[in-house]
Amino acid sequence: MLILGIETSCDETSAAVVDDQTVLSNIIATQSIHAEYGGVVPEFASRAHIRQLVPIIDMALQEAKCNLKDMDGIAVTFGPGLAGSLLVGLCMAKGLAMSLDKPFIGVNHIEGHILAAAAEDPNLDYPFIALVASGGHSILVHSQKPLSFQIIGQTIDDAAGEAFDKVAKVLGLGYPGGPLIEKAARDGDDKAIAFPRALMDKDNLNFSFSGLKTSVLYYVQAQKRKNNAISVADVAASFQRAVVEVLVEKTFRALGKYNCKNLVLAGGVIRNSVLRRAFENRCLAENIVLRIPAPILCTDNAGMIARAGHVRLGRGEHSEFDLDVIPNLSLSDL
Ligand code: KG4
Ligand code: ZN
Repeated sequence: MLILGIETSCDETSAAVVDDQTVLSNIIATQSIHAEYGGVVPEFASRAHIRQLVPIIDMALQEAKCNLKDMDGIAVTFGPGLAGSLLVGLCMAKGLAMSLDKPFIGVNHIEGHILAAAAEDPNLDYPFIALVASGGHSILVHSQKPLSFQIIGQTIDDAAGEAFDKVAKVLGLGYPGGPLIEKAARDGDDKAIAFPRALMDKDNLNFSFSGLKTSVLYYVQAQKRKNNAISVADVAASFQRAVVEVLVEKTFRALGKYNCKNLVLAGGVIRNSVLRRAFENRCLAENIVLRIPAPILCTDNAGMIARAGHVRLGRGEHSEFDLDVIPNLSLSDL
């Protein structure tokens, strides 16, 4: 079964083709226009999707060495995300499905992130705990069987990626902040500044990153007031360490609480090599089977959407043509 996947929920325009085992192509066009504004400008994102989507689909088909008529179905993100951006992908998917007389399926973007691990190995072991850490989400999920997800913890304010982006802005590093903070942190001392780890003493699996971000801001402002030089490397490394410690600790509490031996990591923040290493070391020490998707499958991409669509279409599911975008779609809506 060949599935064309389309992802336009935020600022990546992406199309991919998957077959029963493999991601045959996964083309991603990142919209650079947002960098000068320090964050995604929704109207610019929609317009860029309109311009880029057709050529990106053509490239995905070419790389997979097939054409539209070979597709058995179309999978597309219908939420959560930016309304205008989601609409571009959904309208395209409906138009293609209608003209090809093939089924289409709306995919929950977060389910796509979690199933990115399955894009590389379709035999995921259950039950598993998944940590999804991206620019819009920081959630812990318990999955007992295929396509069943229970949210067991989430951020009560900023997402982890959002904190990386905002702290990068405070440090004047640019956007998106995650990779820039990681780079700056390489030369820094991660114990130089004691930034707070929120909710660690609470008996729940929720996160909070807003206080940490504000704490970095206050630290930088205080140093400037005193005319002290700021070590961007030390601030970046100390901030990054705080995020990593919280994500790892809460995830391992979830594994213990739900007695799970399998862990799936997903979302853009998982590209962070310090975070990956911390998870790898702890999983090794505690005999946990860890699945981390390749970096290209961590940030937003259509390969993960095509894979999730492949699983659902393969079970006989499909969407109706009156499906609308749902910008605040939750994983529990599944
Ligand atoms: O999953 P994603 O591509 O989009 C959303 O669904 O939000 O995640 C993007 C987020 C951004 O906040 C970005 O700063 C963060 O992932 N990110 C990173 C790294 N690479 C991307 N955060 C930390 N370290 C990285 N290396
Ligand atoms: Zn995402």
